[in-house]
Amino acid sequence: MAEVLGGLKRSHVCGTLNKAALAGQTVCLMGWVQTRRDHGGLIFVDLRDRTGIVQVVFSPEVDRTAFTKAETIRSEFVVAVVGEVRIRPEGTLNPNLATGELEVYAHELRILNRAKTPPFYIEEELAVDEILRLRYRYLDLRRPDMQRCLVLRHLVAKTMRDFLDARGFLEIETPMLTKSTPEGARDYLVPSRVNPGNFYALPQSPQIFKQLLMVAGYERYFQIVRCFRDEDLRADRQPEFTQLDLEMSFIEREELLELMEEMIAYLFQHCLDVEIKTPFPRLTYQEAMARYGSDKPDLRFGLELKDVGDIVKDSQFKVFTGALAAGGQVKGLCLPGCASYSRKELDDLTALAGVYGAKGLAWMLCQKENIKSPIAKFFSESQLTQLQQRMGAQPGDLLIFVADQPMVVANALGHLRLEFGRRLNLLNPEEFKFAWVLEFPLLEWDDDEKRWVAMHHPFTSPMDEDEALMEKDPGKIRAKAYDLTLNGIEVGGGSIRIHRREIQEKMFKLLGLSPEESVEKFGFMLEAFEYGTPPHGGIAFGLDRLVMLMARRDSIRDVIAFPKTASAVCQMTGAPSTVAAQQLRDLHIRLLR
Ligand code: AMO
Ligand code: AMP
Repeated sequence: MAEVLGGLKRSHVCGTLNKAALAGQTVCLMGWVQTRRDHGGLIFVDLRDRTGIVQVVFSPEVDRTAFTKAETIRSEFVVAVVGEVRIRPEGTLNPNLATGELEVYAHELRILNRAKTPPFYIEEELAVDEILRLRYRYLDLRRPDMQRCLVLRHLVAKTMRDFLDARGFLEIETPMLTKSTPEGARDYLVPSRVNPGNFYALPQSPQIFKQLLMVAGYERYFQIVRCFRDEDLRADRQPEFTQLDLEMSFIEREELLELMEEMIAYLFQHCLDVEIKTPFPRLTYQEAMARYGSDKPDLRFGLELKDVGDIVKDSQFKVFTGALAAGGQVKGLCLPGCASYSRKELDDLTALAGVYGAKGLAWMLCQKENIKSPIAKFFSESQLTQLQQRMGAQPGDLLIFVADQPMVVANALGHLRLEFGRRLNLLNPEEFKFAWVLEFPLLEWDDDEKRWVAMHHPFTSPMDEDEALMEKDPGKIRAKAYDLTLNGIEVGGGSIRIHRREIQEKMFKLLGLSPEESVEKFGFMLEAFEYGTPPHGGIAFGLDRLVMLMARRDSIRDVIAFPKTASAVCQMTGAPSTVAAQQLRDLHIRLLR
């Protein structure tokens, strides 16, 4: 039978019973039963609440009613206990428990609620299928490691707010029911009942509104805000996710980057007690692609890509010379100590390179005396020596090469670099390596749509010195855009914006929007630009990703209370789901099937 609190009031939370000075005090605790152990005339219960676990002892000599009741309780029952704090007897201390020096001798027990046997244990480091965890998320969230993630998330968000507040930023909310904000994903649409046939879009980001707040003279804005993107999901992506979004007026790139470095260092100090050195390393996009084959390089280790085009261009190897003649590149990686790879391992590696888009993989095993490779015969002695020098190869190393167009080479070798970072244990999980990636191209060519698309978003300003290229050579324009990467993951991105109408119009034109289309989609913004728009810029951080990395987890789902699966489903509520025919009629919607 469940009982009521009946006037009982919690005096302490479990985790705080950690001082010997509390001995002798009467306390009232409330929480969940972690475990019950019966021990010759005594019952031991580990009582758990959000703050920790404490051992409660029931003895018939202290209180027979409480003891008898305690015999019926099971894991996850919700109970209230009144008892006396005692120092544990010699030899029974538990050094693994913060409260391990003490125990509570209960003289009153109330069973506030019973519980079914949970589908999995409520404990740390649980090895259970994630689908089951998500189905019973409220039980999963009882586990201490999940709690720590959410506590950290709270602290990070609070610290961000404090930092920005102290620097004059205002938190201002922007609409959720709005017009499409292009960030490169599909929109989630919401039908309007009162405007038949019309739809709101949920924001992919507050981009347009934060810029309009700059036009409105708010100068420093931020928001911890939910964003919605209908895209293919991965471990570091959710259909709804949270950004720390901010925007500032009257600034240039440098000032913003410095302020953000200061904020990140403050966050890590305050939330993790970890010191982060500033300034962060900076790479241009070109440099990042050339050296790491990625625009979000993991700088915890080296293994840089090396260009060997100049060495192999006069060789007899047609695969290399052919790629170069077609405007491509030949680049390689030196994999220390991998010269012992077997033929099978090399074939597997070639297949892996294929997964990442390479048409083939050339390899050379550097042995003490010579080089073992099916392609060695196509190179002169001097070319082989130069190759080894360029690659920094030592006897025992494996050299791998990919020849193709630059993006293919970067993608294949960039992924293989990461793979070997893992295989060779070069990724220190304790380390936090930030880097800014700067000077992204403004545009990229979309081969399906046969038009330019904005690499960041259409409001990003070209670099001043590249403005003239807007007419001549759009593919070469660099943007005033920047990304922040942490251990190979993009945690933030932003830019200095276009703030003049004529440049914004040029940009829309480059993106293939007719003047009518740009007015229809963004007319309100173009109009706003005519009423005194200050130079401005900003950035948005992926809060989930940042907290995931700070918590040293591999999935953003671990730092989101109620996340969705890779197929955008909520396992617990079953969303998305069908709706009643009447609801559809109200919304003027007829389904195709
Ligand atoms: P961007 O599109 O780069 O920029 O987004 C900013 C950051 O948000 C995070 N992020 C995501 N996190 C989880 N799930 C997703 N699906 C997801 N998509 C993005 C990333 C990313 O770096 N309005 C611009 C910012 C600006 O220009 O100020 C924007 O949204 O960590
Ligand atoms: P093939 O001429 O296709 O028989 O290839 C000869 C060798 O070159 C094989 O070891 C291939 O794996 C390798 N190879 C083929 N294409 C490429 C490429 N694009 N980049 C690097 N190596 C390649």
